[in-house]
Amino acid sequence: MDYNKILKEIEEELQPSKGIGANATYIPELAKVDPDVFGLYLDPIHGNEYGVGDFDKRFSIQSIVKVPAVAMAFRMIGDRVWDRVGVEPSGDPFNSLVQIENENGIPRNPLINAGALVVADILYSLLDNPKQDFLRFMRRLANNETIQYNQDVVASEKAHGYRNRATINLIKSYGNIENDEQEVLDFYYHQCSIEMSCQQLAYTFMPLANGGFLQHSKDRILTGSQAKRINALMQTCGFYDEAGEFTFKVGLPGKSGVGGGIIAVCPGEFTVGVWSPRLNTKGNSVMGMKALELLTTKTGFSIF
Ligand code: DON
Repeated sequence: MDYNKILKEIEEELQPSKGIGANATYIPELAKVDPDVFGLYLDPIHGNEYGVGDFDKRFSIQSIVKVPAVAMAFRMIGDRVWDRVGVEPSGDPFNSLVQIENENGIPRNPLINAGALVVADILYSLLDNPKQDFLRFMRRLANNETIQYNQDVVASEKAHGYRNRATINLIKSYGNIENDEQEVLDFYYHQCSIEMSCQQLAYTFMPLANGGFLQHSKDRILTGSQAKRINALMQTCGFYDEAGEFTFKVGLPGKSGVGGGIIAVCPGEFTVGVWSPRLNTKGNSVMGMKALELLTTKTGFSIF
């Protein structure tokens, strides 16, 4: 497979999609990012890696972090995670509160904000120093000791986080948040503020393509079954009320973030990270989704 040629074709064929959508503004710090940067990085399990554009430039990964967060909880306490959060798609926007009341404070899945807040609470109870221990885990996955929180993004989200404050308090009213809600929110905002490049994201997510193992190592992060189940959650829930469209057009387990990043996993083959800050109305990167649609179409690689 000539991935180098394919990525260059994708970069060319994306030109008509330029300028569609807009940066997230509800976290003002994200609105400051150049809306027209583009990076794409493909990391095959075996063989060379390929990148185009700003593949090595770091950005705020935002909701993409929800996947390693739930993976860390799953790794630590196994199926007990699913006593606190479900595994069903929500069909609603990422920040919806509607189902919390209808379903007694148990969020549909760990990839919507409500579910990620419960996962943050689970980790807050399990970790001696939650922010330090979680960052250590992310640095291990990325094999990079410079991975860091962005305190400006934390402050920006905290100052405008009315919806997440309402969400965590509603969940707590049903007894499904065990720690101080302000502390858990602060931990969650730090998780979302982590910055990575497309290249670093592709490496970080390799255990999900590689049966639970980090790339080029015997370091096992997840069992094969846990990796399969996390991929299933990304496939059905990773794009919220656009999960069906992403599956229909791309056909890979994936996760988006309002910083404009998307990570996708082709189990047994590769991981791929893409970054373009202009979002559609569902909060997903316009050019990121198009790039991945072109990739699976050109390579014939999808899970279908
Ligand atoms: O909590 C929030 O709203 C953000 N920190 C993350 C949301 C997000 O990335 C949604 N994904 N497209």
